[in-house]
Formats: sequence, structure tokens, C-alpha cells
Amino acid sequence: MSLTKDFPRVELSHRPTPLELMTNVSAEFDTRVWIKRDDCTGLAFGGNKSRQLEFYIGQAMEQGADTLLTTGAVQSNHVRMTVAAARKMGLEVEVQLEHRVDREQPEYHRSGNPYLVRLMGAKIHYYPEGEDEAGADHALERRAAELASKGRKAYVIPLSNAHTPYGALGYVDGAEELIAQLQALDIEPKGFIVPSGSASTHTGFLLGARASGCQAPVHGVCVRRDAVSQKQRVATKLQSVIDVVGADIEIPETEILCDDSMLAPGYGLPSEATVEAIKYLARREGILLDPTYSGKTFAVLLALLRQGGYGRDDNVIFLHTGGTASLFAYPELVEE
Ligand SMILES: Cc1ncc(COP(=O)(O)O)c(C=O)c1O
Repeated sequence: MSLTKDFPRVELSHRPTPLELMTNVSAEFDTRVWIKRDDCTGLAFGGNKSRQLEFYIGQAMEQGADTLLTTGAVQSNHVRMTVAAARKMGLEVEVQLEHRVDREQPEYHRSGNPYLVRLMGAKIHYYPEGEDEAGADHALERRAAELASKGRKAYVIPLSNAHTPYGALGYVDGAEELIAQLQALDIEPKGFIVPSGSASTHTGFLLGARASGCQAPVHGVCVRRDAVSQKQRVATKLQSVIDVVGADIEIPETEILCDDSMLAPGYGLPSEATVEAIKYLARREGILLDPTYSGKTFAVLLALLRQGGYGRDDNVIFLHTGGTASLFAYPELVEE
């Protein structure tokens, strides 16, 4: 029985997403490397955020909201998918783009996600900081109050860890879906590799896996902050999700695994190893990754594979969370 069944929810994603064996990568490393295709959730280029938005927008609809408000980086996939979800649900939408990454290139500001946000006609606000989650959320609350004074009812999808993490429910459900797929194929997973940003995906996934009886390690790959801070963030969020679903479960902190080896040079900035991992998967499997999230996550897995971290009978699963629209904001990734 799913832990998320009693929460309001709207349908935004193609589910279940495929679970595929990457045959060329598997042959190269003599192990079985699987990919969970959450880049194929279907909503305006797809990605992990549609699973999370199903629960936020479920709440918004229940409250009778007419407008969604959210915040993110200029190349935020969450912002792009929130706009698409609002359009699908017939809602107005306003987004706030934060100055989170120092990139002056015109493509970063006009192509990829912000291009799609403009195409779908969202109202755009700008926020001058990139490392001020509470401030960014307060700016959204102020805008919601302004709209309320005009008779509108806005629903804020927040960023900081201080709110009820409805988004994480999407990955409690996502992990339950994946564990059922693995069980149907009689596969015993040796480990999962997932990104860890706002931590909704990592936290929800860990809880969903454990609640489904799967004890395999869930490696969270840091894309925004170092491993010590990220572990703290996941621990806090995990407790709030456990409280919100009312699960009778304890997950020791030793099971919160955070790897920040691909974080440098910083959020939204790929290292050479990340660029190499993006090219590797594009050229081996025809699968596209992004420079901010899925590329860094796969780069950690690729490093583990190269170190001989998995053996012949092992099955390791990479969660592909999408983000590919932002590839167009990084034209320098491919040499002329
Ligand atoms: C493509 C992609 N992957 C992973 C993440 C990280 O997910 P979370 O914020 O749930 O940690 C994001 C977040 O924006 C994303 O856009």
C-alpha cells in the first residue's frame, strides 16, 4: 500500500517511467547498469519535477488556487515544469528567477529553460540573490499577498527546507514504482545513484525504498552544497516526510549517503569530469544528461564503475532526473 495514497494529487507524469538496461555501459564494465528514465515523465521535456509537482498542485487545486508562484535558478527545470503544469491545469503562473550562477553568456539567459518559460507565457520576476532560500520564499509570499489584495488566490511552491515537503512524496511514490519494477524482473539492486539538490528526490526516494523493504544504499550526489550540509538537509527533510505520511519507520543517519565529489566548481557549473560523463553517455547510449544535475550524478557513477566498484553479478541503478533542456544553455560543452 503506497504511503502517498491519501494525499491530494493531480496527474502530470507518464508513469511508470521505463527501467532500461544500458547494454553498452554494462558490457564495458562487466556489470549491470540500469537507468530509470525519469527524464521521460513527459511534461514539457520531462524530468523529476513533475512527480513532485503532482502533490504540490494537488494541494493547490484543493485550496482553490488560481495561480502558481515558484522560484528557481535562471535555468531551473523546476520552474519550467511548474509553468507547464500550470498551463495543463488551467492556472495562471508567475515565476521568480534567481541570480544563482555567474554566467553572462546570452544562451544561459535566453535559451533552454528560460526560453521555454517565455514560450509558455509565464510572468517572470527576478531575484538578485542565488543563495537566499528564505528570502526568495518571502518574496513569493509578498507577491501572493499582492495578488490576494486583487482578489486572486495564489499557491506558493516554496524552495527552502522550512515547509512541508509535499514534493518529496513524488519520490516516495517514484521509489515504490521502481522497487516494484525491480521485483517484477527479479533484480536485487546493489545500489542506487540519485541527485541531491533541494533534497526532495533523495529524501523521498530513500523513504520509498526503505518502506518497500529495499535496504540497498541510496547514494545522493550533491549538486548544490557540500556533503556535510546536504546530509543535514536530507535528515531534516526525512523527518518531516516521515511525520507527514505518518510512517512507522526509522532510517538511521548512517543510511543518508551524500557524495560531493562532483560539486566543484559549483552549482550549475560542470567540471571536466562532468562534461566527460555527459559526452560518454551521449556517445555510448544516445542518452542525454544535463550539466547541473544528471550529468554530475552520472559522473559519480562513472567514477565508481571505473574504480571497479561493482562486480559481475551486481545491478546498479542510475536515476535519470532529466534537465536536458538546459543543455542548450551550455553550447561550449561541444568543441566547434
Ligand atoms: C533535472 C534535475 N535533477 C535533479 C534535481 C534535484 O532534485 P531535488 O531538488 O529534488 O533534490 C533537479 C532540481 O531542480 C533537477 O532539475
